Amino acid sequence: MSNAIQRMGFDVKWATSLAAGLEIICLGDIDVVLLDVRLPDGDGLSVLPGIQKVTPKPEVIIMTGFSDPEGAELAIKSGAWDYLQKPVGTKALKLALTRALEYQSEKRQRSQVPISLDRRGIIGDSPTLRSCLDLVAQAAQRDINVLITGETGTGKELFAQAIHKNSQRSNRSFTVVDCAALPGTLVESTLFGHEKGAYTGADHASIGLIMQADGGTLFLDEIGELPLDIQKRFLRVLQERTFRPVGSKREQKSDFRLIAATNQDLDGMVARGAFRGDLLFRLRSVTIDLPPLRERPEDIKPLALNHLAKLCDKYHSEMKGFSADFFKMLRAYEWPGNVRELNQSLEKALVSAGNNPTLFAQDLPAEIRAKVARKSVGSSDDLLRHAKNVYGVVGFPSPLPKLEDVRKSATDEVISKYLEALLKHTAGNLTKARRIAGLSRSRLYTLLKYYQISYEPEDPESA
Ligand SMILES: Nc1ncnc2c1ncn2[C@@H]1O[C@H](COP(=O)(O)OP(=O)(O)OP(=O)(O)O)[C@@H](O)[C@H]1O
Ligand SMILES: [Mg+2]
Repeated sequence: MSNAIQRMGFDVKWATSLAAGLEIICLGDIDVVLLDVRLPDGDGLSVLPGIQKVTPKPEVIIMTGFSDPEGAELAIKSGAWDYLQKPVGTKALKLALTRALEYQSEKRQRSQVPISLDRRGIIGDSPTLRSCLDLVAQAAQRDINVLITGETGTGKELFAQAIHKNSQRSNRSFTVVDCAALPGTLVESTLFGHEKGAYTGADHASIGLIMQADGGTLFLDEIGELPLDIQKRFLRVLQERTFRPVGSKREQKSDFRLIAATNQDLDGMVARGAFRGDLLFRLRSVTIDLPPLRERPEDIKPLALNHLAKLCDKYHSEMKGFSADFFKMLRAYEWPGNVRELNQSLEKALVSAGNNPTLFAQDLPAEIRAKVARKSVGSSDDLLRHAKNVYGVVGFPSPLPKLEDVRKSATDEVISKYLEALLKHTAGNLTKARRIAGLSRSRLYTLLKYYQISYEPEDPESA
């Protein structure tokens, strides 16, 4: 039987007595137990309650020697997943095993968010957001580095705080370092601290942010902005947890958990030499990639309701009602600024509604209504593309688009042309192509897919 199961692609351990079998089960890591009833040293059913207590709990499939409906019923009542009658055919066995494993992996996924996870005000129940919350729960339990990625306004800082608040370090400090705002010449001393007289103007010693995070969580926001030489020093801090303040001869220790966030493509930056690969590797023991709001439109309504309730509180007004077109408009818009933009727009809508008890789509900012209207006529991208081709002749569409939109669609067109030229030049050889372009393989694939340029995937042998 073990041989047959192995041929189905599963790992098997087997034993010929209850005692030997229980020993294996207690070591953990067993997904399914196939349990015989009559064994040399006792009755298989008698150990069912014990098996239920092992974590993670394996599923038990009972094998009964002769048709014994009562025994089978008892088995299922005591928590067995299924029972099979001997002789057990390969097909029935495979089916039972597969079903048990599927059931179990589903159950484990569901139970991954501990009920005790404090969401810290994180709203939304879309599947993608839920899987991010699962990762928060997992990361909170362990003291590992976490990298949070996502567009602006998707909640990176909120999620970082949630990890901290659900971790064992929750009553210690949460130290935020905004790498984009670190003052050029003082980056080192801001992070690592300095001794008195370490440089002109340092008239007293100061502890750096790394030391402030001792015992707690260090949140490096916008980590893509960290200068390369500091990245190198910081890597050492991560590896050894010790560092030397500027002007000091003594090493200091700081015990912190690191969470980093970025909206940049760090892989792409590594490929360009703008970010250290070894640091990135260390940062992402766990990566939480927060989805943009437009990819989870079902979260928009609960987010909006929650924020409006907060705003009404703030303005001491009654909760507003909504016209049908209000949420329709919210869903139709793309929300490039994600939850932050949604919240800001709601505040504007509330102010615009004044004492009116109902919010209408009309109350939303004009830019949003214009974008949605334009989208419903033809995508604004189409209009821009058209404009680009002809603006030398007839000019931009009216109303004038934002510079950012023009820039984006102009860049898109150039990059798309570049990629086509690149593939033509290398006759479709992706290895050559990425060498010339200075791109990682995954980045090149992503770009080709994004710009819908057809290509022959690389032969993994030659890569
Ligand atoms: N799921 C959510 N539930 C409730 N509020 C949210 C959620 N996601 C984001 N927000 C709110 O949106 C705003 C922006 O979130 P946050 O500052 O965490 O974004 P960010 O990803 O760090 O953005 P940036 O890259 O611009 O710094 C905050 O006010 C935050 O509370
Ligand atoms: Mg942020």
